[in-house]
Amino acid sequence: MLRFITAGESHGPGLVAMLEGIPAGLPISEAQIRQDLARRQMGYGRGGRMKIETDYAVLQSGVRHGLTMGSPIAMLIENRDHTTGKGPDGKPWTHTMSKNPVEGEVTPIHRLRPGHADTPGISKYLQDDARNILERSSARESAARVAVGAVCRRFLAEFGIEIHSHVVNLGGVRSHAKQPIDWAAVEESPVRCADPVAGDAMMKAIDAAREAGDSLGGTVEIVATGLPIGLGTHIQWDRKLSTRLAAAVASMNAVKGVEFGAGFDSSEVRGSQLHDVIKPIGEWEQNPDGTWRQPWPRCGNNSGGLEGGMTTGEPLIVRAVVKPIATIINPLPTVDLTTGEPDKAHYERSDITFVPSCGVIGEAMVAFTLAEAFLEKFGGDHVEETRRNWKGYMASVGPRAHAAKAKA
Ligand SMILES: Cc1cc2nc3c(=O)[nH]c(=O)nc-3n(C[C@H](O)[C@H](O)[C@H](O)COP(=O)(O)O)c2cc1C
Repeated sequence: MLRFITAGESHGPGLVAMLEGIPAGLPISEAQIRQDLARRQMGYGRGGRMKIETDYAVLQSGVRHGLTMGSPIAMLIENRDHTTGKGPDGKPWTHTMSKNPVEGEVTPIHRLRPGHADTPGISKYLQDDARNILERSSARESAARVAVGAVCRRFLAEFGIEIHSHVVNLGGVRSHAKQPIDWAAVEESPVRCADPVAGDAMMKAIDAAREAGDSLGGTVEIVATGLPIGLGTHIQWDRKLSTRLAAAVASMNAVKGVEFGAGFDSSEVRGSQLHDVIKPIGEWEQNPDGTWRQPWPRCGNNSGGLEGGMTTGEPLIVRAVVKPIATIINPLPTVDLTTGEPDKAHYERSDITFVPSCGVIGEAMVAFTLAEAFLEKFGGDHVEETRRNWKGYMASVGPRAHAAKAKA
């Protein structure tokens, strides 16, 4: 069983992630995790916070001499802002976020922000200061998820599985990227867009939103390749991979929609136009050792690589729609938490858009979910045990006559 939890507040001392269930023998380094953390921090439209932080996950446990030991992997990411920065009232965060009672007043947040977690949070947890809600609901927490995702990505890479993402819509500007996506170009793009013309227009849209004191949302696409056929199951609603991926992706802050493959457009076409016809196999799809790269290749991928809650062996394609940021420079009308009287919503340093980062966070959530499904299917307390199980399965999944040949 693979599982993780995170802890930490946005302006507290740091974030903690604990990942349990990664087999022994996996090469892991802080430098490799840092690469994904740095990718999350980039992106045109991010606010001042990302200039302060240089996210680095310090491995606290589970790794020795560069290899996992099968024990829980704990990671600690420092919030530099905690020790160096000040809150909107000019007081140091060490004071505002002190775990001990402090002398003097700490300015509470009373002007509830529509679209953030403030209003349901203060009601449910009976808080008189919305900071006690916003500190945890902030997407700063996603840095811990990305650290977890980096470990899962490294595990999946052992089996030839790669995960990428790109921005397909930002503030209404759509990407018309050519297939196959040039992932190197996405990594170079300030908005993580594979279409350079759309990328420029997205940056202009961000500048215009900044000028207007507003914010922008968009859509990111996450693509995983090299997946074996049959991860997940059709057997039970909560074990379907589609269920679990949708939940994992929807758990990202600000996500308002998730789709797979042709997604919502599937409702616009006939079945004959939609379903991914199965191609006759070619010799090249079978490796010399009898294992299959893709035993049942398709003519298209409108399913997004999922049928019946299981992987088809085609690339997994998941899209997440993210709403525009709630903390807006020109604050929305709201009410005061104490009086219930009209006011303007609280504002503190905020991004204009976070859409490019959402792709990287989405990759992490997809990596975790796929690693979990992979380990469920193939098990193994050491990576080599997982590999043996995976190889045995991959030799058995082709057309039955070929499988018999491989056995003989
Ligand atoms: C990478 C990332 C950065 C974010 N930055 C901000 C921000 O600067 N200001 C803000 O109000 N919301 C930001 N959000 C969105 C809020 O975290 C989110 O809207 C809030 O927690 C309420 O949750 P919900 O939108 O899922 O309902 C960000 C989200 C992500 C994924």
